Formats: sequence, C-alpha cells, structure tokens
Amino acid sequence: MAQCLLWLGLALLGALHTQAQDSTSTLVPAPPLRNVPRQPHFQDDQFQGKWYVLGLAGNEINKEKHRQFKVYTTTYKLNEDYTYSYNVTSTLAWNLNCSHWFRTFDRTSFPGLYTLGNIEWYTGIQRYVLRVASTDYKKFAMVFFKKIVKQQAYFTVALYGRTIELTPELKENFTSFVKSMGLRDEHIIFSIPIDECMDK
Ligand SMILES: *[C@@H]1O[C@H](CO)[C@@H](O)[C@H](O)[C@H]1NC(C)=O
Ligand SMILES: *[C@@H]1O[C@H](CO)[C@@H](O)[C@H](O)[C@H]1NC(C)=O
Ligand SMILES: *[C@@H]1O[C@H](CO)[C@@H](O)[C@H](O)[C@H]1NC(C)=O
Repeated sequence: MAQCLLWLGLALLGALHTQAQDSTSTLVPAPPLRNVPRQPHFQDDQFQGKWYVLGLAGNEINKEKHRQFKVYTTTYKLNEDYTYSYNVTSTLAWNLNCSHWFRTFDRTSFPGLYTLGNIEWYTGIQRYVLRVASTDYKKFAMVFFKKIVKQQAYFTVALYGRTIELTPELKENFTSFVKSMGLRDEHIIFSIPIDECMDK
C-alpha cells in the first residue's frame, strides 16, 4: 500500500507519469521563474482549504494519453508555526478507492513561492518549486510547478477551482495563460467530473 501511494505520488509529481524521454528534444522549454507571473500580495491564509483540480497543462502533458484525467482534490493547510509551510494532501479516486497523497511545501523568502519539502525522498528530483501565479482565493487559482530531473526542466500549471464547476471563462483564461508559456492545445487537459472521493 505504501509502495502504491509512493508510486502514485511520484506519478503525480511527474505530471501523471508521461515519460518524456522519447521527446526530450522537442520538449517545450520551461520558463525561467522570473518570467512566471505571481499573485501580488499573496495571502497564504486565504489560499488554504480545498481546491478541485480542473485542468492541467505542461510540457509533459499529452492530451491523447491523458484523456481519462479525472478531477481530484488538493487541500492546503498552513502550519501557523514559525515555518508557515503548507501541508498538502491530494485525494484521488484510484481503483475504486480514495488514495491520499501527502507532501509539504516550504515557504521561501518570496511570497507565493514554495519548495517541495523532504525532496530527498523523491529520487532523482533535484529541484521542485511551486508558485501561485494568480488567484482570487474564492473561485480559482493557477499554480505553476517546475521540477528539475537529470538537468531537464519540466513544468506544469494547475487550474484549481473552489467548486467542481469549470466555467467557460476560466477555461479560456487558463488556456490563454498557459499558451503564453509556449504550450499548445495538445499540452492542455481538463478533468472529467466525478463524484467519488470528492468529500474525503
Ligand atoms: C502538518 O503535517 C505535520 C506532519 O504530519 C503535522 O505534524 C502537523 O500538525 C500538520 N499541520 C497541520 C496544520 O495540519
Ligand atoms: C480498495 O480498498 C479495499 C478496502 O480497503 C481493499 O480491500 C482493496 O484491495 C483496495 N483495492 C485496491 C485496488 O487497492
Ligand atoms: C479572466 O481574464 C480576464 C481578463 O484578464 C479577467 O478580467 C477575469 O477576471 C478573468 N476571469 C477569471 C475567472 O479568471
């Protein structure tokens, strides 16, 4: 079971485990962090709580391969101690069960920028950062993830909603945002709504 969850976590970290080796030469380059927008005046307390993952886009995502991408939830809890790190739990419907995947993100000196905690647990990952690119806290968030594995940079942008509903406006905004990073339609997926595991 632990093994299975670890695999699941790694799969998610790897943006649903597409192996990009075969297409490394054509990988869309990850933007440098300084070019990634960030939510001004980021409020870490307001960002907490449950988000539905409504869309994903990234240089490892392939629309054809990820056609079965089902909605899952990710919950952020702020550690209101001196660290102000986040405990992050994702809950996915997995072979008729709800699987939970836990990790922490450590605060950096830049508001809205976090690094994956305990990175040494994840073999091969040299660097992993999360930046909240934009959010209104109440309806949506767009979160940028970038990881470095074997000197290669992979990035994913997640579209989060406070409800499971994906409005056309949000879909459009997300699409134009990720296209501004060089991604194309084939790199963008929207989740299939399901009921299972949404309240866990
Ligand atoms: C975050 O996780 C750590 C380790 O499991 C736990 O000790 C801590 O209480 C959690 N914090 C919150 C706010 O849930
Ligand atoms: C789902 O959970 C049940 C009960 O915990 C367990 O018996 C079963 O093996 C699990 N199925 C899978 C595919 O993990
Ligand atoms: C979509 O983008 C427009 C223009 O940038 C903005 O005014 C609007 O608030 C955005 N809506 C959402 C739901 O992100």
